[in-house]
Amino acid sequence: MEKMWAGRFAKALDKKADDFNSSIATDKRMYRQDITGSMAHAAMLGKQGIISEEESEKIIDALSVILEDIEEGRLDIDLEAEDIHMFVESVLTKRLGDLGKKLHTARSRNDQVAVDIRLYLRDEAVEIISLIKKLISAIILQAKENTNAIMPGYTHLQRAQPITFAHQILAYGMMLSRDITRIEDAVKRMNYSPLGSCALAGTTYDTDRYFEAEKLGFSGITLNSIDGVSDRDFCIELMAAFSTIMMHLSRFSEEIILWSSWEFKFIELDDSFTTGSSIMPQKKNSDMAELVRGKTGRVYGDLFALLTTLKGLPLAYNKDMQEDKDAIFDSVDTVKACLEIFAPMVETMHTIPENMYNAAGKGFINATDLADYLAKKGMPFRTAYKTVGEIVAECIDKNTVLDKLTLKEYKAHSELFEDDLYNEISLETCVEKRISAGGTGKASVMTQIEYLENTIK
Ligand code: ARG
Repeated sequence: MEKMWAGRFAKALDKKADDFNSSIATDKRMYRQDITGSMAHAAMLGKQGIISEEESEKIIDALSVILEDIEEGRLDIDLEAEDIHMFVESVLTKRLGDLGKKLHTARSRNDQVAVDIRLYLRDEAVEIISLIKKLISAIILQAKENTNAIMPGYTHLQRAQPITFAHQILAYGMMLSRDITRIEDAVKRMNYSPLGSCALAGTTYDTDRYFEAEKLGFSGITLNSIDGVSDRDFCIELMAAFSTIMMHLSRFSEEIILWSSWEFKFIELDDSFTTGSSIMPQKKNSDMAELVRGKTGRVYGDLFALLTTLKGLPLAYNKDMQEDKDAIFDSVDTVKACLEIFAPMVETMHTIPENMYNAAGKGFINATDLADYLAKKGMPFRTAYKTVGEIVAECIDKNTVLDKLTLKEYKAHSELFEDDLYNEISLETCVEKRISAGGTGKASVMTQIEYLENTIK
């Protein structure tokens, strides 16, 4: 295929160099955005009298047929083309002759590609947000079913204080709700049209960039043409948001893997989201969660790949920037694949509250409540804390737990102890009485569910 720029060259491009230079395998997925951008551009050229209205309409019609032809499988994207922009233009020229060659007036691939990526990411952002919402909805479902499932809350992965399973997984709901706002914020900053920046310096034609921007649903135009073509901050921001999502999913995965182990057995993943072993007949592995945890590294890698590509790049466009799409597309695909698997995995998982409760009964997770009991009866908290520490040591010595020590044994430590202590340190009371806002008590859990339900509305 002859290059658009062949005029200046005496020789054809080396075959290997041609392949190396090509980005169509990656950017072909932006065909719709490329055509949409071109339609807006053609409309502007017509409106401004840069080409005639009739020419503008013909180009727009031909572009919409090209779009339909691709979408309905009548036109294959030719991988011999350098990129999707060149491909669409060459088909247009094949179909319209010289008129097709007028489309690229007052435009460069530099502003064209900058528009295409924005349009593409704007659509993907909507999809990713809706996938996050599905996951939040699965979390809400599990939370509602497990408001009474008492389990140990951990710090340092040591049993710390009793909480409910609902409270624990709602924490992930909160993280994910922030992830939505991170994406929305990034999209807000991204949503300015660089179209009309042309190669880097703008153009001598009397264009109307605002018209194009409005047609394409942008909130405005980028005000500096050099910045317009060389800015990829929006990719970085979105990839940082995606990395944060993956970090959250990876922590959630880690807990799911732990909880599924025989050492915990707080949950059992549904058979449809687990795999067996090729040799050990007893195995049921949390492969999906492990893969999500593993793929987190890829998404971080994509972010760092692009940050590194952009580091030290002089203005304006440099071919290095063609690497942006491999990074951002991989990041988009991975985060979508992970969210798609995560939501049904969480939704179908079976909780085993009995095992959670048994685990909560060991490990003195009501010790704080015992200290609070003494403190509420007038003992300074630090002294109460020390006294309970001594009682715990005694329990460990006697191989028993706080709930089983007799009142006589308690009285040996402090005269403040009365019979009501047993109710005070029951796991149910420990949870119920944590009424502080945002705590594990029922009312707070209900508030959290309501908040998340509003988030996904
Ligand atoms: N395929 C190129 C990219 O993705 C399009 C822009 C090319 N511009 C240029 N001046 N070579 O970055």
